[in-house]
Amino acid sequence: MDPAQANPRTARDDWWRTAAVYQVYVRSFADSDGDGIGDLQGIRSRLPYLRDLGVDALWLTPFYRSPMVDGGYDVADYREVDPMFGDLTDFDEMITDAHGLGLRIIVDIVPNHTSDVHPWFVAALAAAPGSAERDRYMFRDGRGEHGEEPPNDWESIFGGPAWTRLPDGQWYLHLFDPAQPDLNWRHPEVRAEFEQILRFWLDRGVDGFRIDVAHGMIKADGLPDIGWTSATTGRRQIELLGKGRLPYFDQDEVHDIYRAWRPILDSYPGGRMAVAEAWAETPQRLARYIGPDELHQAFNFDFLDATWSADSFHKVIDTALAEAAIVGAPTTWVLSNHDKQRHVTRYGDGEVGLRRARAAALLMFALPGSTYLYQGEELGLPEVLDLPDHLRQDPAFGRTGHSRDGCRVPLPWSGEDPPYGFGPAGSVESWLPAPAGWAPLTAQAQDGDPDSTLELYRRALAIRAEHPALRDAPAGDGTGLTWLEAGPGVLAFRRGDDGGTDTDGGAAGGADGGAHALICVVNLSGAPVPVDGYGVPLITSAPLDGPPRGRLLPVDAAAWFRPA
Ligand code: BGC
Ligand code: MG
Repeated sequence: MDPAQANPRTARDDWWRTAAVYQVYVRSFADSDGDGIGDLQGIRSRLPYLRDLGVDALWLTPFYRSPMVDGGYDVADYREVDPMFGDLTDFDEMITDAHGLGLRIIVDIVPNHTSDVHPWFVAALAAAPGSAERDRYMFRDGRGEHGEEPPNDWESIFGGPAWTRLPDGQWYLHLFDPAQPDLNWRHPEVRAEFEQILRFWLDRGVDGFRIDVAHGMIKADGLPDIGWTSATTGRRQIELLGKGRLPYFDQDEVHDIYRAWRPILDSYPGGRMAVAEAWAETPQRLARYIGPDELHQAFNFDFLDATWSADSFHKVIDTALAEAAIVGAPTTWVLSNHDKQRHVTRYGDGEVGLRRARAAALLMFALPGSTYLYQGEELGLPEVLDLPDHLRQDPAFGRTGHSRDGCRVPLPWSGEDPPYGFGPAGSVESWLPAPAGWAPLTAQAQDGDPDSTLELYRRALAIRAEHPALRDAPAGDGTGLTWLEAGPGVLAFRRGDDGGTDTDGGAAGGADGGAHALICVVNLSGAPVPVDGYGVPLITSAPLDGPPRGRLLPVDAAAWFRPA
Protein backbone atom coordinates (compact mmCIF):
# COMPACT_ATOMS: atom_id res chain seq x y z
CA MET A 1 0.00 0.00 0.00
CA ASP A 2 1.05 3.56 -0.65
CA PRO A 3 2.28 5.13 2.63
CA ALA A 4 0.20 8.18 1.79
CA GLN A 5 -2.95 6.17 2.35
CA ALA A 6 -1.77 4.43 5.48
CA ASN A 7 -0.50 7.57 7.21
CA PRO A 8 -1.28 11.01 5.82
CA ARG A 9 1.31 12.51 8.19
CA THR A 10 4.15 10.78 6.40
CA ALA A 11 2.74 11.20 2.91
CA ARG A 12 4.08 14.71 2.42
CA ASP A 13 7.58 15.22 1.03
CA ASP A 14 8.49 17.28 4.09
CA TRP A 15 7.26 14.57 6.49
CA TRP A 16 10.53 14.83 8.43
CA ARG A 17 9.76 18.35 9.67
CA THR A 18 7.32 17.13 12.29
CA ALA A 19 7.97 13.39 12.34
CA ALA A 20 8.18 11.28 15.47
CA VAL A 21 11.11 9.03 14.60
CA TYR A 22 11.74 5.85 16.59
CA GLN A 23 15.34 4.71 16.83
CA VAL A 24 15.66 0.95 16.49
CA TYR A 25 18.90 -0.45 17.87
CA VAL A 26 18.59 -3.47 15.62
CA ARG A 27 20.58 -5.90 17.74
CA SER A 28 18.33 -5.28 20.74
CA PHE A 29 14.87 -4.66 19.35
CA ALA A 30 13.32 -8.05 18.56
CA ASP A 31 14.78 -11.45 17.73
CA SER A 32 12.89 -13.58 15.18
CA ASP A 33 15.11 -16.67 15.08
CA GLY A 34 15.98 -17.35 18.72
CA ASP A 35 19.71 -16.67 18.53
CA GLY A 36 19.47 -13.98 21.20
CA ILE A 37 20.18 -11.20 18.69
CA GLY A 38 17.64 -8.78 17.27
CA ASP A 39 17.18 -8.94 13.50
CA LEU A 40 15.30 -7.51 10.52
CA GLN A 41 12.48 -10.07 10.64
CA GLY A 42 12.15 -9.25 14.32
CA ILE A 43 11.59 -5.60 13.40
CA ARG A 44 9.16 -6.65 10.71
CA SER A 45 7.13 -8.68 13.20
CA ARG A 46 6.83 -5.68 15.53
CA LEU A 47 5.86 -3.06 12.96
CA PRO A 48 2.22 -3.10 14.08
CA TYR A 49 3.41 -2.25 17.62
CA LEU A 50 5.27 0.77 16.23
CA ARG A 51 2.31 1.86 14.13
CA ASP A 52 0.09 1.62 17.21
CA LEU A 53 2.63 3.55 19.25
CA GLY A 54 2.03 6.36 16.78
CA VAL A 55 5.49 7.00 15.37
CA ASP A 56 6.02 8.09 11.78
CA ALA A 57 9.42 6.69 10.93
CA LEU A 58 12.10 4.29 12.12
CA TRP A 59 15.82 4.96 12.18
CA LEU A 60 17.69 1.66 12.06
CA THR A 61 21.20 1.56 13.48
CA PRO A 62 23.75 -0.19 11.22
CA PHE A 63 22.77 -3.72 10.17
CA TYR A 64 25.48 -4.08 7.51
CA ARG A 65 28.10 -6.80 7.39
CA SER A 66 30.44 -6.11 10.26
CA PRO A 67 32.68 -7.84 12.78
CA MET A 68 30.70 -5.87 15.42
CA VAL A 69 33.68 -4.39 17.19
CA ASP A 70 31.64 -1.21 17.65
CA GLY A 71 28.12 -2.60 17.44
CA GLY A 72 28.09 -2.40 13.64
CA TYR A 73 29.54 1.12 13.37
CA ASP A 74 32.50 -0.74 11.90
CA VAL A 75 31.19 -1.66 8.45
CA ALA A 76 32.85 -4.33 6.33
CA ASP A 77 30.35 -4.24 3.45
CA TYR A 78 28.00 -1.29 3.05
CA ARG A 79 25.73 -3.12 0.61
CA GLU A 80 25.19 -6.35 2.52
CA VAL A 81 23.15 -7.23 5.60
CA ASP A 82 25.14 -8.94 8.33
CA PRO A 83 24.00 -12.58 8.55
CA MET A 84 23.19 -12.09 12.24
CA PHE A 85 20.46 -9.64 11.16
CA GLY A 86 19.22 -11.46 8.05
CA ASP A 87 19.75 -10.66 4.38
CA LEU A 88 18.68 -8.17 1.73
CA THR A 89 15.45 -10.04 1.12
CA ASP A 90 14.59 -9.60 4.80
CA PHE A 91 15.35 -5.90 4.43
CA ASP A 92 13.12 -5.61 1.37
CA GLU A 93 10.27 -7.40 3.14
CA MET A 94 10.68 -5.24 6.22
CA ILE A 95 10.65 -1.94 4.31
CA THR A 96 7.73 -3.01 2.14
CA ASP A 97 5.66 -3.80 5.22
CA ALA A 98 6.77 -0.61 6.95
CA HIS A 99 5.74 1.50 3.99
CA GLY A 100 2.45 -0.35 3.88
CA LEU A 101 1.79 0.82 7.43
CA GLY A 102 2.81 4.40 6.62
CA LEU A 103 6.14 4.13 8.42
CA ARG A 104 9.17 5.73 6.78
CA ILE A 105 12.60 4.08 7.07
CA ILE A 106 15.86 5.93 7.81
CA VAL A 107 19.10 3.95 7.71
CA ASP A 108 22.43 4.79 9.31
CA ILE A 109 25.37 5.56 7.07
CA VAL A 110 28.89 5.40 8.48
CA PRO A 111 31.19 7.38 6.17
CA ASN A 112 33.97 8.55 8.48
CA HIS A 113 35.57 5.14 8.85
CA THR A 114 35.23 1.54 7.73
CA SER A 115 35.92 -1.69 9.57
CA ASP A 116 39.50 -2.90 9.50
CA VAL A 117 38.23 -5.97 7.66
CA HIS A 118 36.70 -3.89 4.86
CA PRO A 119 38.35 -5.04 1.59
CA TRP A 120 39.85 -1.57 1.09
CA PHE A 121 41.66 -1.67 4.43
CA VAL A 122 42.75 -5.27 3.95
CA ALA A 123 44.25 -4.19 0.60
CA ALA A 124 45.87 -1.18 2.24
CA LEU A 125 47.54 -3.37 4.84
CA ALA A 126 48.83 -5.71 2.15
CA ALA A 127 50.19 -2.82 0.08
CA ALA A 128 53.32 -0.80 0.70
CA PRO A 129 53.64 2.61 2.35
CA GLY A 130 52.89 5.28 -0.24
CA SER A 131 50.70 2.95 -2.34
CA ALA A 132 47.40 3.90 -3.93
CA GLU A 133 45.68 1.39 -1.64
CA ARG A 134 46.89 3.22 1.47
CA ASP A 135 45.82 6.55 0.05
CA ARG A 136 42.13 5.74 0.65
CA TYR A 137 42.85 5.91 4.39
CA MET A 138 44.98 8.18 6.57
CA PHE A 139 48.39 6.52 6.69
CA ARG A 140 51.38 8.58 7.83
CA ASP A 141 54.94 8.07 8.95
CA GLY A 142 55.57 8.58 12.64
CA ARG A 143 57.66 11.20 14.35
CA GLY A 144 60.82 10.68 16.37
CA GLU A 145 64.15 9.37 15.18
CA HIS A 146 62.73 6.02 14.06
CA GLY A 147 59.15 7.07 13.50
CA GLU A 148 58.22 5.55 16.83
CA GLU A 149 56.03 8.47 17.89
CA PRO A 150 52.51 8.94 16.45
CA PRO A 151 52.27 11.46 13.57
CA ASN A 152 50.44 13.95 15.79
CA ASP A 153 48.85 14.34 19.22
CA TRP A 154 45.25 13.52 18.31
CA GLU A 155 43.26 11.31 20.70
CA SER A 156 40.76 8.60 19.95
CA ILE A 157 37.22 9.32 21.11
CA PHE A 158 37.34 5.89 22.73
CA GLY A 159 40.53 6.83 24.64
CA GLY A 160 44.25 6.65 23.90
CA PRO A 161 46.08 7.90 20.80
CA ALA A 162 44.14 8.12 17.52
CA TRP A 163 47.00 6.31 15.72
CA THR A 164 48.05 2.69 15.53
CA ARG A 165 51.40 1.56 14.17
CA LEU A 166 51.82 -1.29 11.71
CA PRO A 167 54.70 -3.76 11.65
CA ASP A 168 56.12 -1.96 8.59
CA GLY A 169 56.44 1.20 10.69
CA GLN A 170 53.62 3.33 9.26
CA TRP A 171 50.74 4.61 11.38
CA TYR A 172 47.06 4.89 10.49
CA LEU A 173 44.45 7.23 11.93
CA HIS A 174 41.36 6.01 13.79
CA LEU A 175 39.30 8.60 15.61
CA PHE A 176 37.42 5.69 17.19
CA ASP A 177 38.60 2.11 17.75
CA PRO A 178 41.76 0.81 15.99
CA ALA A 179 39.31 -1.49 14.17
CA GLN A 180 37.69 1.64 12.63
CA PRO A 181 40.30 3.24 10.34
CA ASP A 182 39.40 6.75 9.11
CA LEU A 183 38.85 7.16 5.39
CA ASN A 184 40.62 9.82 3.34
CA TRP A 185 37.72 11.96 2.12
CA ARG A 186 39.98 13.96 -0.17
CA HIS A 187 40.25 10.82 -2.31
CA PRO A 188 37.84 10.84 -5.27
CA GLU A 189 37.27 7.08 -5.06
CA VAL A 190 36.03 7.42 -1.49
CA ARG A 191 33.58 10.12 -2.53
CA ALA A 192 32.37 8.14 -5.54
CA GLU A 193 31.93 4.98 -3.50
CA PHE A 194 29.70 6.63 -0.91
CA GLU A 195 27.59 8.31 -3.56
CA GLN A 196 26.98 4.84 -4.97
CA ILE A 197 26.17 3.48 -1.51
CA LEU A 198 23.56 6.20 -1.03
CA ARG A 199 22.01 5.29 -4.36
CA PHE A 200 22.05 1.61 -3.49
CA TRP A 201 19.85 2.18 -0.44
CA LEU A 202 17.72 4.88 -2.08
CA ASP A 203 17.01 2.40 -4.87
CA ARG A 204 15.85 -0.08 -2.20
CA GLY A 205 13.36 2.52 -1.01
CA VAL A 206 14.89 4.08 2.09
CA ASP A 207 13.42 7.43 3.01
CA GLY A 208 16.51 8.91 4.58
CA PHE A 209 19.89 8.57 6.19
CA ARG A 210 21.26 9.27 9.64
CA ILE A 211 24.83 10.32 8.99
CA ASP A 212 27.25 9.03 11.59
CA VAL A 213 29.99 11.45 12.72
CA ALA A 214 28.86 13.84 9.99
CA HIS A 215 31.29 16.51 11.21
CA GLY A 216 34.29 14.20 11.02
CA MET A 217 35.19 13.24 7.50
CA ILE A 218 37.59 16.06 6.61
CA LYS A 219 40.72 16.62 8.68
CA ALA A 220 42.61 19.92 8.73
CA ASP A 221 45.38 20.21 6.16
CA GLY A 222 48.72 19.00 7.44
CA LEU A 223 47.05 17.22 10.40
CA PRO A 224 48.24 19.87 12.86
CA ASP A 225 48.85 19.12 16.53
CA ILE A 226 46.32 20.30 19.06
CA GLY A 227 49.11 21.12 21.49
CA TRP A 228 47.80 19.23 24.47
CA THR A 229 46.53 15.77 25.38
CA SER A 230 44.87 14.05 28.33
CA ALA A 231 48.35 13.16 29.51
CA THR A 232 49.46 16.80 29.63
CA THR A 233 46.24 18.40 30.92
CA GLY A 234 44.14 15.66 32.46
CA ARG A 235 41.41 16.76 30.07
CA ARG A 236 40.36 14.63 27.12
CA GLN A 237 40.24 16.31 23.72
CA ILE A 238 36.75 14.93 23.16
CA GLU A 239 35.51 17.20 25.94
CA LEU A 240 35.72 19.99 23.34
CA LEU A 241 33.07 18.25 21.24
CA GLY A 242 30.31 20.79 20.66
CA LYS A 243 32.22 23.44 22.59
CA GLY A 244 35.48 24.17 20.78
CA ARG A 245 37.43 23.61 17.58
CA LEU A 246 39.32 20.42 16.88
CA PRO A 247 41.40 19.95 13.70
CA TYR A 248 39.71 16.62 13.06
CA PHE A 249 36.13 17.88 13.29
CA ASP A 250 33.86 20.41 11.59
CA GLN A 251 36.25 21.52 8.86
CA ASP A 252 34.72 23.80 6.23
CA GLU A 253 35.48 21.37 3.42
CA VAL A 254 33.10 18.77 4.87
CA HIS A 255 30.25 20.81 3.44
CA ASP A 256 31.38 20.01 -0.13
CA ILE A 257 30.46 16.41 0.60
CA TYR A 258 26.91 17.29 1.59
CA ARG A 259 26.51 19.64 -1.34
CA ALA A 260 27.29 16.62 -3.52
CA TRP A 261 24.91 14.34 -1.61
CA ARG A 262 21.89 16.61 -1.61
CA PRO A 263 21.25 16.51 -5.37
CA ILE A 264 21.36 12.71 -5.13
CA LEU A 265 18.67 12.71 -2.44
CA ASP A 266 16.63 15.25 -4.38
CA SER A 267 16.82 13.20 -7.55
CA TYR A 268 14.66 10.51 -5.93
CA PRO A 269 10.91 11.00 -5.58
CA GLY A 270 9.00 11.07 -2.33
CA GLY A 271 10.84 13.21 0.20
CA ARG A 272 14.19 11.52 0.91
CA MET A 273 16.08 13.20 3.76
CA ALA A 274 19.25 13.16 5.81
CA VAL A 275 19.82 13.91 9.48
CA ALA A 276 23.34 14.61 10.69
CA GLU A 277 24.95 13.45 13.85
CA ALA A 278 27.02 16.62 13.78
CA TRP A 279 28.74 18.48 16.56
CA ALA A 280 30.01 22.01 16.11
CA GLU A 281 31.39 24.74 18.26
CA THR A 282 28.41 27.08 17.96
CA PRO A 283 24.78 26.91 16.84
CA GLN A 284 25.81 29.01 13.85
CA ARG A 285 28.37 26.44 12.76
CA LEU A 286 25.91 23.58 13.33
CA ALA A 287 23.37 25.46 11.23
CA ARG A 288 25.74 25.32 8.26
CA TYR A 289 25.00 21.60 7.88
CA ILE A 290 21.35 22.32 7.24
CA GLY A 291 19.67 23.95 4.30
CA PRO A 292 18.32 23.41 0.81
CA ASP A 293 21.74 22.51 -0.61
CA GLU A 294 23.01 20.38 2.29
CA LEU A 295 21.24 18.26 4.91
CA HIS A 296 17.69 18.45 6.21
CA GLN A 297 18.34 18.17 9.92
CA ALA A 298 20.98 17.79 12.61
CA PHE A 299 20.46 16.32 16.05
CA ASN A 300 20.10 18.84 18.80
CA PHE A 301 22.05 17.17 21.60
CA ASP A 302 21.86 20.15 23.95
CA PHE A 303 18.33 19.10 24.82
CA LEU A 304 19.55 15.63 25.75
CA ASP A 305 22.36 17.15 27.81
CA ALA A 306 20.11 19.59 29.70
CA THR A 307 19.92 19.00 33.43
CA TRP A 308 16.62 18.66 35.25
CA SER A 309 15.93 22.34 35.81
CA ALA A 310 13.63 24.87 34.21
CA ASP A 311 16.52 27.24 33.45
CA SER A 312 18.51 24.56 31.71
CA PHE A 313 15.58 23.47 29.51
CA HIS A 314 14.50 27.03 28.83
CA LYS A 315 17.97 27.93 27.64
CA VAL A 316 18.49 24.94 25.33
CA ILE A 317 15.01 25.31 23.86
CA ASP A 318 15.63 28.98 23.11
CA THR A 319 19.01 28.16 21.55
CA ALA A 320 17.49 25.44 19.41
CA LEU A 321 14.69 27.72 18.27
CA ALA A 322 17.26 30.35 17.37
CA GLU A 323 19.08 27.74 15.29
CA ALA A 324 15.82 26.79 13.63
CA ALA A 325 15.30 30.43 12.77
CA ILE A 326 18.77 30.62 11.20
CA VAL A 327 18.14 27.68 8.90
CA GLY A 328 14.40 28.12 8.37
CA ALA A 329 13.65 24.54 9.39
CA PRO A 330 12.30 23.11 12.63
CA THR A 331 14.82 21.46 14.90
CA THR A 332 15.03 17.91 16.27
CA TRP A 333 14.48 16.87 19.87
CA VAL A 334 15.99 13.83 21.49
CA LEU A 335 16.26 12.59 25.08
CA SER A 336 18.06 9.28 24.68
CA ASN A 337 19.99 7.26 22.14
CA HIS A 338 22.29 4.25 21.96
CA ASP A 339 25.33 6.29 23.06
CA LYS A 340 23.90 7.95 26.17
CA GLN A 341 22.69 6.84 29.55
CA ARG A 342 18.89 6.44 29.42
CA HIS A 343 17.12 9.56 30.66
CA VAL A 344 15.14 7.77 33.39
CA THR A 345 18.51 7.14 35.02
CA ARG A 346 20.03 10.53 34.14
CA TYR A 347 17.09 12.23 35.84
CA GLY A 348 17.59 10.40 39.13
CA ASP A 349 16.67 6.76 38.40
CA GLY A 350 13.97 4.82 40.24
CA GLU A 351 10.59 6.42 40.80
CA VAL A 352 11.86 9.99 40.59
CA GLY A 353 13.70 9.31 37.35
CA LEU A 354 10.67 7.69 35.76
CA ARG A 355 8.37 10.47 36.89
CA ARG A 356 10.67 13.06 35.35
CA ALA A 357 11.14 11.02 32.19
CA ARG A 358 7.37 10.93 31.71
CA ALA A 359 7.19 14.69 32.16
CA ALA A 360 10.12 15.18 29.78
CA ALA A 361 8.30 13.16 27.11
CA LEU A 362 5.32 15.54 27.26
CA LEU A 363 7.73 18.47 27.09
CA MET A 364 9.54 17.04 24.09
CA PHE A 365 6.40 16.08 22.17
CA ALA A 366 4.99 19.59 22.57
CA LEU A 367 8.02 21.32 21.06
CA PRO A 368 8.04 22.48 17.44
CA GLY A 369 9.92 20.23 15.05
CA SER A 370 10.64 16.54 14.87
CA THR A 371 11.22 14.23 17.76
CA TYR A 372 13.50 11.20 18.01
CA LEU A 373 12.62 8.45 20.49
CA TYR A 374 15.01 5.73 21.50
CA GLN A 375 13.59 2.22 21.72
CA GLY A 376 12.46 1.34 25.21
CA GLU A 377 11.89 4.87 26.40
CA GLU A 378 8.19 4.29 25.72
CA LEU A 379 8.42 1.53 28.34
CA GLY A 380 10.20 3.78 30.81
CA LEU A 381 13.30 1.59 30.78
CA PRO A 382 16.16 2.65 33.02
CA GLU A 383 19.84 2.20 32.23
CA VAL A 384 21.08 -1.25 33.26
CA LEU A 385 23.89 -0.23 35.58
CA ASP A 386 25.03 -3.58 36.90
CA LEU A 387 25.97 -5.54 33.79
CA PRO A 388 28.91 -7.77 34.62
CA ASP A 389 32.09 -6.33 33.07
CA HIS A 390 32.87 -9.49 31.16
CA LEU A 391 29.59 -9.16 29.26
CA ARG A 392 30.12 -5.55 28.24
CA GLN A 393 30.83 -5.21 24.54
CA ASP A 394 31.43 -1.50 23.99
CA PRO A 395 35.02 -1.03 22.75
CA ALA A 396 35.19 2.23 24.71
CA PHE A 397 34.92 0.24 27.94
CA GLY A 398 38.39 -1.29 27.78
CA ARG A 399 39.98 2.07 26.96
CA THR A 400 38.03 4.50 29.12
CA GLY A 401 36.17 2.41 31.70
CA HIS A 402 32.96 3.96 30.35
CA SER A 403 30.51 1.69 28.54
CA ARG A 404 27.36 2.31 26.53
CA ASP A 405 26.04 -1.23 26.97
CA GLY A 406 23.55 -0.33 29.70
CA CYS A 407 21.23 1.44 27.25
CA ARG A 408 21.56 -1.35 24.67
CA VAL A 409 19.98 -4.19 26.64
CA PRO A 410 17.34 -6.06 24.59
CA LEU A 411 13.75 -4.84 24.91
CA PRO A 412 11.37 -6.68 27.23
CA TRP A 413 8.26 -7.63 25.26
CA SER A 414 6.35 -10.06 27.47
CA GLY A 415 6.45 -12.69 30.19
CA GLU A 416 7.88 -12.93 33.68
CA ASP A 417 11.54 -13.76 33.16
CA PRO A 418 14.49 -12.70 31.01
CA PRO A 419 14.66 -12.44 28.03
CA TYR A 420 11.02 -11.35 28.32
CA GLY A 421 9.82 -12.49 24.92
CA PHE A 422 12.73 -10.88 23.10
CA GLY A 423 12.82 -13.96 20.88
CA PRO A 424 10.58 -16.98 20.27
CA ALA A 425 10.07 -19.60 23.00
CA GLY A 426 13.23 -21.63 23.57
CA SER A 427 15.59 -18.80 22.53
CA VAL A 428 19.11 -18.69 23.87
CA GLU A 429 19.93 -15.93 26.34
CA SER A 430 19.97 -12.50 24.72
CA TRP A 431 23.38 -11.08 23.71
CA LEU A 432 23.21 -8.76 26.68
CA PRO A 433 21.10 -10.19 29.50
CA ALA A 434 17.96 -8.35 30.55
CA PRO A 435 17.83 -7.85 34.32
CA ALA A 436 15.52 -9.65 36.71
CA GLY A 437 12.66 -7.39 37.74
CA TRP A 438 11.67 -6.08 34.32
CA ALA A 439 8.42 -8.10 34.18
CA PRO A 440 6.27 -5.02 35.00
CA LEU A 441 8.07 -3.08 32.24
CA THR A 442 7.29 -5.40 29.34
CA ALA A 443 5.19 -4.04 26.50
CA GLN A 444 2.62 -6.72 27.27
CA ALA A 445 2.38 -5.77 30.96
CA GLN A 446 1.90 -2.10 30.11
CA ASP A 447 -0.51 -2.58 27.24
CA GLY A 448 -3.94 -1.30 28.23
CA ASP A 449 -2.86 -0.04 31.66
CA PRO A 450 -3.87 3.64 31.62
CA ASP A 451 -1.16 4.54 34.12
CA SER A 452 1.64 2.91 32.19
CA THR A 453 4.37 4.80 30.36
CA LEU A 454 3.53 2.94 27.17
CA GLU A 455 -0.04 4.23 27.26
CA LEU A 456 1.18 7.73 28.11
CA TYR A 457 3.38 7.68 25.00
CA ARG A 458 0.57 6.32 22.84
CA ARG A 459 -1.88 8.99 23.99
CA ALA A 460 0.64 11.81 23.72
CA LEU A 461 1.80 10.77 20.25
CA ALA A 462 -1.81 10.46 19.12
CA ILE A 463 -2.60 13.99 20.30
CA ARG A 464 0.64 15.25 18.75
CA ALA A 465 -0.40 13.73 15.44
CA GLU A 466 -3.94 15.11 15.44
CA HIS A 467 -3.80 18.44 17.25
CA PRO A 468 -3.50 21.40 14.88
CA ALA A 469 -1.06 23.15 17.24
CA LEU A 470 1.39 20.26 17.12
CA ARG A 471 0.59 18.50 13.87
CA ASP A 472 1.70 21.12 11.38
CA ALA A 473 5.21 22.32 10.71
CA PRO A 474 5.56 25.81 12.13
CA ALA A 475 5.50 28.48 9.46
CA GLY A 476 7.92 31.31 8.93
CA ASP A 477 11.05 31.14 11.02
CA GLY A 478 10.31 27.58 12.10
CA THR A 479 9.76 28.32 15.77
CA GLY A 480 6.13 28.75 16.69
CA LEU A 481 6.27 28.72 20.46
CA THR A 482 5.31 31.45 22.93
CA TRP A 483 6.65 31.31 26.47
CA LEU A 484 4.16 32.10 29.22
CA GLU A 485 5.03 33.68 32.56
CA ALA A 486 4.76 30.83 35.07
CA GLY A 487 6.96 31.49 38.06
CA PRO A 488 10.32 30.05 39.10
CA GLY A 489 10.98 26.44 38.22
CA VAL A 490 7.99 26.12 35.92
CA LEU A 491 8.10 25.92 32.13
CA ALA A 492 4.95 26.99 30.31
CA PHE A 493 4.50 27.70 26.64
CA ARG A 494 1.79 27.98 24.09
CA ARG A 495 1.76 26.44 20.62
CA GLY A 496 -0.50 26.89 17.66
CA ASP A 497 -1.01 30.61 17.41
CA ASP A 498 1.26 31.04 14.41
CA GLY A 499 1.24 27.72 12.66
CA GLY A 500 -0.31 29.04 9.48
CA THR A 501 -3.48 26.96 9.89
CA ASP A 502 -4.69 28.99 12.85
CA THR A 503 -6.84 31.85 11.72
CA ASP A 504 -8.33 32.83 15.05
CA GLY A 505 -6.12 35.77 15.76
CA GLY A 506 -2.96 34.93 17.64
CA ALA A 507 -1.90 34.64 21.24
CA ALA A 508 -4.79 36.60 22.66
CA GLY A 509 -7.19 33.99 21.31
CA GLY A 510 -10.04 34.58 18.91
CA ALA A 511 -13.68 33.77 18.50
CA ASP A 512 -13.15 30.04 18.94
CA GLY A 513 -10.95 30.55 22.00
CA GLY A 514 -7.97 28.23 22.12
CA ALA A 515 -9.34 25.33 20.10
CA HIS A 516 -6.32 25.48 17.81
CA ALA A 517 -3.81 26.20 20.54
CA LEU A 518 -2.16 24.03 23.15
CA ILE A 519 -0.38 24.95 26.36
CA CYS A 520 2.33 22.76 27.86
CA VAL A 521 3.31 23.20 31.51
CA VAL A 522 6.19 21.36 33.20
CA ASN A 523 6.72 21.63 36.93
CA LEU A 524 10.40 21.44 37.89
CA SER A 525 9.93 23.69 40.91
CA GLY A 526 9.90 21.23 43.79
CA ALA A 527 6.36 22.16 44.92
CA PRO A 528 2.92 21.66 43.34
CA VAL A 529 1.83 24.58 41.17
CA PRO A 530 -1.70 25.82 40.50
CA VAL A 531 -2.74 25.34 36.89
CA ASP A 532 -6.27 26.74 37.00
CA GLY A 533 -5.61 29.42 34.45
CA TYR A 534 -4.45 27.21 31.60
CA GLY A 535 -7.64 25.58 30.42
CA VAL A 536 -8.87 22.04 30.01
CA PRO A 537 -6.27 19.32 30.67
CA LEU A 538 -5.71 17.08 27.65
CA ILE A 539 -3.07 14.78 29.11
CA THR A 540 -0.92 14.73 32.23
CA SER A 541 2.21 12.75 33.09
CA ALA A 542 0.92 12.33 36.67
CA PRO A 543 -2.59 12.94 38.04
CA LEU A 544 -3.44 16.55 38.89
CA ASP A 545 -4.39 17.01 42.52
CA GLY A 546 -5.38 19.53 45.13
CA PRO A 547 -8.51 21.53 45.88
CA PRO A 548 -10.75 22.06 44.14
CA ARG A 549 -10.31 18.75 42.40
CA GLY A 550 -7.70 18.59 39.69
CA ARG A 551 -6.08 21.99 39.79
CA LEU A 552 -2.54 21.45 41.05
CA LEU A 553 0.27 20.11 38.89
CA PRO A 554 2.47 17.97 41.16
CA VAL A 555 6.26 18.16 41.21
CA ASP A 556 8.17 16.60 38.32
CA ALA A 557 5.04 16.42 36.22
CA ALA A 558 3.86 17.92 32.94
CA ALA A 559 0.46 18.57 31.43
CA TRP A 560 -1.04 19.78 28.18
CA PHE A 561 -4.08 22.06 28.21
CA ARG A 562 -6.59 23.34 25.71
CA PRO A 563 -6.73 27.05 26.49
CA ALA A 564 -10.16 28.31 27.51
C1 BGC B 1 27.75 6.43 16.96
C2 BGC B 1 28.44 5.56 17.95
C3 BGC B 1 29.70 5.03 17.29
C4 BGC B 1 30.55 6.15 16.70
C5 BGC B 1 31.56 5.63 15.76
C6 BGC B 1 28.75 7.54 16.84
O1 BGC B 1 28.28 8.65 16.39
O2 BGC B 1 26.50 6.90 17.38
O3 BGC B 1 27.63 4.54 18.41
O4 BGC B 1 30.45 4.38 18.26
O5 BGC B 1 29.77 7.05 16.01
O6 BGC B 1 30.98 5.23 14.56
MG1 MG C 1 18.10 -13.16 15.73
